[in-house]
Formats: sequence, structure tokens, C-alpha cells
Amino acid sequence: MSKTDSLLELPTNLDRSKLPRHVAVIMDGNGRWGKKQGLARVVGHRQGVDTLKDLLRCCRDWGIPALTAYAFSTENWGRPLEEVDFLMALFEGVLRRELAEMNAEQVRIKFVGKLDALPPALQDEIIKAEATTSKNQGIQFTIATNYGSRQEIVQACKSIAEGVKNGSIDPAEIDEKLFGQHLYTHGTPDPDLLIRTSGEMRISNFLLWQLAYAEIYVTDTLWPNFDRQAFHEALLDYQQRHRRFGKV
Ligand code: FPP
Repeated sequence: MSKTDSLLELPTNLDRSKLPRHVAVIMDGNGRWGKKQGLARVVGHRQGVDTLKDLLRCCRDWGIPALTAYAFSTENWGRPLEEVDFLMALFEGVLRRELAEMNAEQVRIKFVGKLDALPPALQDEIIKAEATTSKNQGIQFTIATNYGSRQEIVQACKSIAEGVKNGSIDPAEIDEKLFGQHLYTHGTPDPDLLIRTSGEMRISNFLLWQLAYAEIYVTDTLWPNFDRQAFHEALLDYQQRHRRFGKV
């Protein structure tokens, strides 16, 4: 039995009543992991998909109702063309191969980001995945793809401005709640915990609005090595924090 096989159920030293309701992850370190194995960077991305799949299952097994993963940022188009093409094909292939199983496991899939700039074949798989799983009541799985938080905030402003212009929004009613309803993530509670792997202390244009009160956990572990044991450690750390939301 491996170290993580014993973690199919919530570890006894975690308090079920204090689990985050939504975990967000910046999955950094795939390229470095590939290189460390003496292989190509993209091998790390492929391995990273398995890590993400297991984290999704782990959240479901342990009773965490929402997981959001940062798969591709608006800045990632600046990577070498072969790597961008590889990632787009990887996302498409993962959706095509895994959809039936995720649906059977009651996963509700949602993509956030500027999706109309993605390759058409990937957009088709996204539409299919979201439509197939929209009624599922298990875990909410959000994948940020061609996502940039500033871009999201700007499009929310535009959408509200349109509403004001056509008379459906009264400027006096614009508040944080209404603003949140115009973000891609509307309907999902804000993350309680942000995990970033591979040591960088940055938010990298990820969920800037939604992470306002999230606890941040950074680990040196490279994403492909972020297993249930590593997630367990992150949750233990999270449960020791005193969340004050600006109060004393
Ligand atoms: C960054 O590592 C990681 C990514 C660009 C994310 C890759 C995407 C996945 C693993 C999963 C996507 C899954 C679905 C379901 C669509 P990096 O290349 O920045 O690593 P480095 O910091 O070592 O260079």
C-alpha cells in the first residue's frame, strides 16, 4: 500500500466541519518536473493531468464541494508554439476521454476564461462537457482556461455598463453582489483556500476578486508530485489559520 492509498477517506486529524468549501489551485512546476526526469516539459503537463484528476477525486472523497484549477492563463500564449499546441490538444483529449467517467461521478464541469479564443475543436468539447454535466449534484469542477482575472473584471464592467445603457441595471443597485454575478465564476462561492505549487509567491492574475479573503498556501512541491499526502498537509495548515475576514 502506498502512502496515499491510506488516504481514501478524510484523515482523522482533519476537522470535517472546518474544511474549505472551495479550493483553488495554481498548478505550477510541470515543466520543471519533466526536465527533472530528463524528459520534455510537456511530459510534466501530461503527468499534471493525472495529479489534477486525483485531487478532484480526493476533494469529492473528503467532502470538499468545489475545486477550481488554473489550466491556462491569458499570458500563457507567450509560450513556445509547440507547447501551446500541446496543451490545447491535451485539454481537448482529456475532455473527450474523461467526460463519461466524470459525468458518472456526478462532477459538474465549468470552464471560465475567454473561451471564444480557444481552438474550435476544444470549444466544442467544452460546450459538450458543460451541457452533459450541468445538472450533476456532486463536486463543482471549474477549469480556468485562457483566463486572466483583469480581463474577467473588465468584461464584468462592460456587461454592467451594457445593462445600465439598456435600462436593465440601475447604477444605484451596483454592489459587490451584483458585480460578482457578472464574473465568469458567478454561482460558485469564493475560494477559501488557494494552493500554489512549486514555490512561487504570486497570484499571477488568478481570481483577484474572488480570492479577497482566501487563505494562501504555497508549497515547494512540483505540481505532478502534489498527491493526497501533500493536500492533507495543506488542509492541516489551513485548519490552523484563524480566519478573521478583517475583524479582530
Ligand atoms: C504550469 O506548469 C501548468 C500549466 C500550464 C497547467 C497545465 C494543465 C494541466 C496540468 C491540467 C489541465 C486539465 C484539464 C482538465 C483541462 P509550468 O509549465 O509553468 O511549469 P514550470 O513552472 O516548471 O515551467
